[in-house]
Amino acid sequence: MLWTLLLALLALLLLHTQLSVCFKELRSRGPRPSVGWPSSSNASKQRLPGAIIIGVRKGGTRALLEMLNLHPDVEVAKAEVHYFNVEEHYRRGLAWYRTQMPFTLPGQLTVEKTPGYFAAPQVPARVRAMNPAVRLLLIVRDPAQRLISDYTQVLHNRLTRRKPYQPLEELLLHEGSIDPGYRALQRSLYHQHLARWLEVFPREQIHVVDGDALIRDPFPELREAERFLELPPRITPDNFYYNTTKGFYCLLSAGHDKCLDQSKGRPHAPLSTRTFWKLCRYFREPNKMFFSMVGRSFSWC
Ligand code: A3P
Repeated sequence: MLWTLLLALLALLLLHTQLSVCFKELRSRGPRPSVGWPSSSNASKQRLPGAIIIGVRKGGTRALLEMLNLHPDVEVAKAEVHYFNVEEHYRRGLAWYRTQMPFTLPGQLTVEKTPGYFAAPQVPARVRAMNPAVRLLLIVRDPAQRLISDYTQVLHNRLTRRKPYQPLEELLLHEGSIDPGYRALQRSLYHQHLARWLEVFPREQIHVVDGDALIRDPFPELREAERFLELPPRITPDNFYYNTTKGFYCLLSAGHDKCLDQSKGRPHAPLSTRTFWKLCRYFREPNKMFFSMVGRSFSWC
């Protein structure tokens, strides 16, 4: 009798786990067929994001999005939407933006990430106009490493399209000194960009994620993010394992594992030690300003 009861309980538990997984799977596949699904407000539908990962480019935005997606109450837009920063998209209006979002049930949180938002001057006011209560996540990384990663991505794209390219040293230096006009350098001046966001959003509405810490050990950063998003803690250390071949943490969920693609974590373009230190010196003051704005410091070069 006791055995039958225990077996029944076990079967129920298994069924519940399977159903939860199936539901998340179904939701991520997009629109549900109209037949058989309720058409009330409880139905799955596309909703505007409640949280946006605004940047920084090459800070670990894809890793953060994929990791948040482990949470059962979160659904993410798979592709970068570039709604607020690309005029052609913005002109299409919020109805278009909504169609770029995943299907969710009431109570679930929609998240999108577009790293281009952070440094685009027109974006903060536009985001606020959509929803002044939206939660913002900003993942930052050592600005010198971020710059090299940014260059490496551009270099890779140019090589793929068989286009000419300049060595990083040439782009970065002008008569032996750091050239402040280099775009990738400007994208690493976090304090300048954050200042624009803080003109329209209170500091508490922007959660800063440590991108270098996320690489070393993702779980603590995810726990913090869950807290900021007021999500029940569901992501666990068991959702991550270190993949020695990739050299990064990969994700584990419902028996499936997933590593980010090869464009994430590729070897960086070379830069002489001398120029690297010049770069570090250049960022010293901007970094200090950023630290005082966010109320914490990072051990950057
Ligand atoms: P590198 O390619 O320079 O190493 P983004 O998604 O914003 O473009 O950021 C890319 C960066 O995410 C990568 O930069 C990588 O270091 C970082 N990253 C963080 N966690 C990662 C993970 N688990 N797997 C792969 N890359 C990760």
